Amino acid sequence: MSSYAYFHKQFVPLSEAKIGAMTNSLHYGTAVFEGIRGNWNSEQQQIYLFRLKEHYARLHNGCQVLKIDLPYTIDELCQITIELVRKCGFQEDIYIRPLSYKSSEAMGVRLHNLEDDFLILVIPWGRYLDVDKAKCGVSSWRCPKEVPRAKLTGLYINNALAKTEAIENGFDEAIMLTTDGYIAEGSGENIFLIINGKLVTPASYNSILMGITRDTTIKLAKNELGIETIERPVERTELYNADECFLTGTAANITPVAEIDRRKIGNGEIGEITRKLQQLYSEVIRGNSSKYLNWCTAVYYK
Ligand SMILES: Cc1ncc(COP(=O)(O)O)c(C=O)c1O
Repeated sequence: MSSYAYFHKQFVPLSEAKIGAMTNSLHYGTAVFEGIRGNWNSEQQQIYLFRLKEHYARLHNGCQVLKIDLPYTIDELCQITIELVRKCGFQEDIYIRPLSYKSSEAMGVRLHNLEDDFLILVIPWGRYLDVDKAKCGVSSWRCPKEVPRAKLTGLYINNALAKTEAIENGFDEAIMLTTDGYIAEGSGENIFLIINGKLVTPASYNSILMGITRDTTIKLAKNELGIETIERPVERTELYNADECFLTGTAANITPVAEIDRRKIGNGEIGEITRKLQQLYSEVIRGNSSKYLNWCTAVYYK
């Protein structure tokens, strides 16, 4: 079992996937990426890839924004990913990172007259926020106003600044505000509050990435718990007064938030609705829920 990459249209050991120092996207952030989870189901000895097509649809959107030619359909990308993960043979939770990038070894800030390339790599990866309940701090770094519905590498600078600021201040994760002071999201997650039995989350126009886990959470809350989600601007002080709070993301799954800016959320323990959603989500992504099996792609032959 070892990490492989799909690189220059071939499957190679990850250690052999190298790019040159002059690569345009390394200097100017001209790349689009995705983060996809493979979730290990030990009883079934199977890895399930979660919402694979949706991730590749978002990658295609990003390529369109950055004028990157991605010469594969969504179905082809899914097929390559399945083959790659099979080749790695991992028997644990994994993380898959596709990257479409301006590959020319050429200086100059632009998108045109540059060649494009594409790679995928796979690594074993357990919990992203390695805590049962996170302590968060509102960041002094804000989210950029225009956030396309895709993960563009250059857009992650403020997120990196915010994350390190949060860790240095003794928190587990940063919560970033929009330029006009509303809550946007974590450095790598969307955020939900529970207020009076309803889910509340920042809206698409609040400088957020439209997360696939966010969408999954909204659907599971509605279908399985009968709980509606209100998508609207959220004020900073609403965080402090919420009954429950949690973060959602492909890497972080559903992570409860116990504390924000050194104020306990609720009683500082994992809330009841949060726990239910966490349990549901964990069953769904591991292929244990027949109702949502269409979101899961099995990797290994049985
Ligand atoms: C900034 C940001 N917001 C939100 C998310 C959650 O998105 P998703 O649930 O699609 O992983 C991510 C994770 O990739 C992210 O990087």
